[in-house]
Amino acid sequence: MSTRRLDPTSLAIGVGVGAVVAFAVSRMTAKATLVNPGINKGSPKVVDMKTLAEIEDLINKSEKGNVVLCRCWRSSNFPFCDGSHAKYNKECCDNTGPLVIKKA
Ligand code: FES
Repeated sequence: MSTRRLDPTSLAIGVGVGAVVAFAVSRMTAKATLVNPGINKGSPKVVDMKTLAEIEDLINKSEKGNVVLCRCWRSSNFPFCDGSHAKYNKECCDNTGPLVIKKA
């Protein structure tokens, strides 16, 4: 019966190659894990500001009597929801949805 010993150099090379491959894969897939995949990426921080009066005005002008704000960061009409969360949820098995503000 023969016993095989693991060559330490081969083991070190194997672990090193595995680490490099894992790092490369994580870098290639990093964009998919960003909260904000593409809105105003030139800015260090995305901030949208509305006054209560502006929100109330938007609600009053809305057919449904509400304002719907995006929380998935996929809307082409950000900061307002355009329904893109449904496609994102289906693709990513997520459950994001908007913030709906209405008068009562
Ligand atoms: S599109 Fe982002 S929450 Fe609806």
